[in-house]
Formats: sequence, C-alpha cells, structure tokens
Amino acid sequence: MRWTLFMRIAFYPCCGSDLILPLRLLNGLADRLIFCDLRQPDDQVWRRTLRGAKTPGAPSPKFVCSDATKALRELECVHVLFYRNDSTGEGGSALRVWNRTFLLPFLERLPDDGGLIVTDGSNCWPKLFRRMNRPNGVELYGWHLQPERALQARNHGVFHSKGASVSQLVWLNVRANRKDLACPSTQIS
Ligand SMILES: C[S@@+](CC[C@H](N)C(=O)[O-])C[C@H]1O[C@@H](n2cnc3c(N)ncnc32)[C@H](O)[C@@H]1O
Repeated sequence: MRWTLFMRIAFYPCCGSDLILPLRLLNGLADRLIFCDLRQPDDQVWRRTLRGAKTPGAPSPKFVCSDATKALRELECVHVLFYRNDSTGEGGSALRVWNRTFLLPFLERLPDDGGLIVTDGSNCWPKLFRRMNRPNGVELYGWHLQPERALQARNHGVFHSKGASVSQLVWLNVRANRKDLACPSTQIS
C-alpha cells in the first residue's frame, strides 16, 4: 500500500544558526522546515534543534547545505517562506529574495490556496516593505501579499528567547490573483 502524506513545507534561506526560534514560530503552520545555508551548523547546535523539534506541533527540521536559489528551485512545492536578519552588508548574503530571480520561483511553487511569508524585510527595498505592511498589502507578480494580523501575535510573549526580539517580523498571507499552474502538495510515500 502506498501511504501519501500532504505536507506543508517551510523554507528558510540563509538561516545561519537561527534554528530553534523559527521552529517555535512556525509551530502548527508547517510540517517540515527546510533550513538552507552555505555553511553547515555545528553538530551541537543541530542536536539542540532536533530536540526543540520534539515539541508537539513543531515542524520537522531538515538542513540543506546549498545556495538558497538553487535549493529553492529543487523543491517541488513550498508553503511558507521564512527570512530574517540578513543584509547586503558584511556577513550578509545579499540574496535578492524580493527580486524575480528568487520570489518568482517561490510563488510558482505555492499551492493554489496560497501560502505565507514571514519576514523582517531583510534585503527588501524599504518602499516595497512599507507597501507590504499596509493593511491592504501589495500586488506582486500576480499575487496579493497582505499582513495577517492574527498571526502577528506570534511575535510576542512565549516566542522570545535569549533576549532575541522577533517583534519586527511581518506575517504576510500570499494569495493568487491569477494562477495557471497548479502545484500539488508534496507527496511522500
Ligand atoms: C547574516 S547571516 C543570516 C543570519 C540568520 N538569518 C539569522 O537570523 O541569524 C547570512 C547567512 O547567509 C549565508 N549565505 C550567504 N550566501 C548564501 C547563499 N547564496 N545561499 C545560502 N546561504 C547563504 C551565510 O553563510 C550566512 O550564514
């Protein structure tokens, strides 16, 4: 018999060692969280991450050591994009997440009922990030991005750890205005 599970996949490009808190933030919103970076996290940090993933509802973590754009294109379907604390300065990836080269492949991999972007606006043109933050959101490449105030509450309280503030995160619902390509949920057997 073939067992088929429909999984909600979250993708976090340029994660560095920011592994535990995203698992908590996305609890109940994704089944798998794919972390991606050019550098592998050290063993101790990864073991701690796996322990953190034992919390009920936490996504199961996977690490992909690769260029983020390449890793994204190798995914069949993505439901959530998580991206923060990056820059174009020293130590930052300068990844062009908000350009067509990255955002379009992400949007093309969303299921028909849309998905979610969780971000602090890293590497985003400030004017575009302001527009994303408006109550009525923004249209981008045939998709509608709009803040989801109910999820915004996740930025507060229990999700703070070791003094790391997540209050800057914006939770954007992403819905298709027009979409010709149907993306099936990822199937595992
Ligand atoms: C500023 S750090 C990110 C910090 C992390 N987001 C956090 O919240 O702690 C930038 C990271 O991007 C990674 N990086 C740089 N270029 C990359 C690429 N093309 N694909 C994937 N990761 C990349 C670097 O190895 C580094 O860990």
